[in-house]
Amino acid sequence: MKNIACIDDLRMLARRKVPRAFFDYADSGSYNEETLRANRSDLEAIKLRQRVLVDVSQRSLTTTVVGQNIAAPLILAPVGLTGMQHGNGEILSAQAANEAGIPYTLSTMSICSIEDVAQATRKPFWFQLYVIRDRGFSKDILERALAAKCNTLVLTVDLQVLGQRHRDIKNGMTVPPEIRLKNIIDIATKPGWAFGILMGKRKTFGNLAGHVKGTENINQLAKWVGDQFDPALNWKDVEWIKKLWPGKLILKGILDPEDAKTAVELGADAIVVSNHGGRQLDGAPSSISALPAIVDAVGSDTEVLFDGGIRTGADILRALGLGARACMIGRAYIYGLGAGGKAGVAKAIDILKNELSVAMALTGTIKISDIDGSVIAGGDVKKKSAARKRKPSQS
Ligand SMILES: Cc1cc2nc3c(=O)[nH]c(=O)nc-3n(C[C@H](O)[C@H](O)[C@H](O)COP(=O)(O)O)c2cc1C
Repeated sequence: MKNIACIDDLRMLARRKVPRAFFDYADSGSYNEETLRANRSDLEAIKLRQRVLVDVSQRSLTTTVVGQNIAAPLILAPVGLTGMQHGNGEILSAQAANEAGIPYTLSTMSICSIEDVAQATRKPFWFQLYVIRDRGFSKDILERALAAKCNTLVLTVDLQVLGQRHRDIKNGMTVPPEIRLKNIIDIATKPGWAFGILMGKRKTFGNLAGHVKGTENINQLAKWVGDQFDPALNWKDVEWIKKLWPGKLILKGILDPEDAKTAVELGADAIVVSNHGGRQLDGAPSSISALPAIVDAVGSDTEVLFDGGIRTGADILRALGLGARACMIGRAYIYGLGAGGKAGVAKAIDILKNELSVAMALTGTIKISDIDGSVIAGGDVKKKSAARKRKPSQS
């Protein structure tokens, strides 16, 4: 990890170490990848306001999210099949997040199960739920998450139907998966990855295997998953989940102010402004361009988290400047995991924290709670939207 300077370095290393089908699965977006690209280009277009001769010697990145103290305004986002980027990927990512003092979110579609992660970590982690057709399964998995002491539920609401990723089709990453000669040859050139997977606890969807009848092999299980996304999912289901879940509830995948307001009315403790990392509605606006109007719409009772395209600490400052309370990262840590397992995830977190700290210093900012629209250069509209004062710490 010595020569790794930035998240893009981790990406390049992951590309060499992880089989093509799995690297592409993480790296790509849906359809023409317009939204995927916009997530990055719109962040880069926001310029920060350089300030000088402010005493910034006592900087702190600590803050709170849904009442929890965290070491930096950063959360590891739920990422399906994390355990295919590196053996035991979910456990290693959760441990790296624990050690860095930030939350880890386990996906419903993980390889390691809720129980595996709980057993291997000391601090509570967050659990992400996809509500599927089989509502009994959703109820059971929430009970398992509670039993594993998950304190926060992230309910993902932007995946009633699946966006298509062209690269997955070309690589045979379909449901059920296709075994292709070129993939076998590719895996043969990545022995480190193969050994890690072989030694890992599990090789299939850990939260589902053994909990769903009639899915004895991976193909049956993958087909079950493909059939389970529910186009009928609606706001009434959110009310149902709210009744079942006694902990904090975060709605992830909000991109429109009207939806944000409904989420608040239904009692969400926080929302995540997200377009699923450009993996669902291609042609949707970038997350960062959607953020200011949503911040304005929800007022100060509900925390607004953000994800989509975060690759630098300056990106985190941009999002916080436009009113986000904290940022989730997906690919940034997944590249780290593929590049170097737990050390790679720790490196990704470290890079982003250090970059954020420097960006804060050079914009004359000392505390996270001081960050507002004044860190953004120019753009009155953006400044106005972000000027809403961040709620004081709840803990
Ligand atoms: C490979 C991959 C798998 C993902 N799987 C899930 C998932 O299981 N559940 C979910 O809510 N979001 C999932 N997401 C979306 C992320 O939680 C997050 O919204 C997105 O990665 C943020 O964009 P970024 O990767 O540019 O940081 C996934 C993203 C990627 C890249």
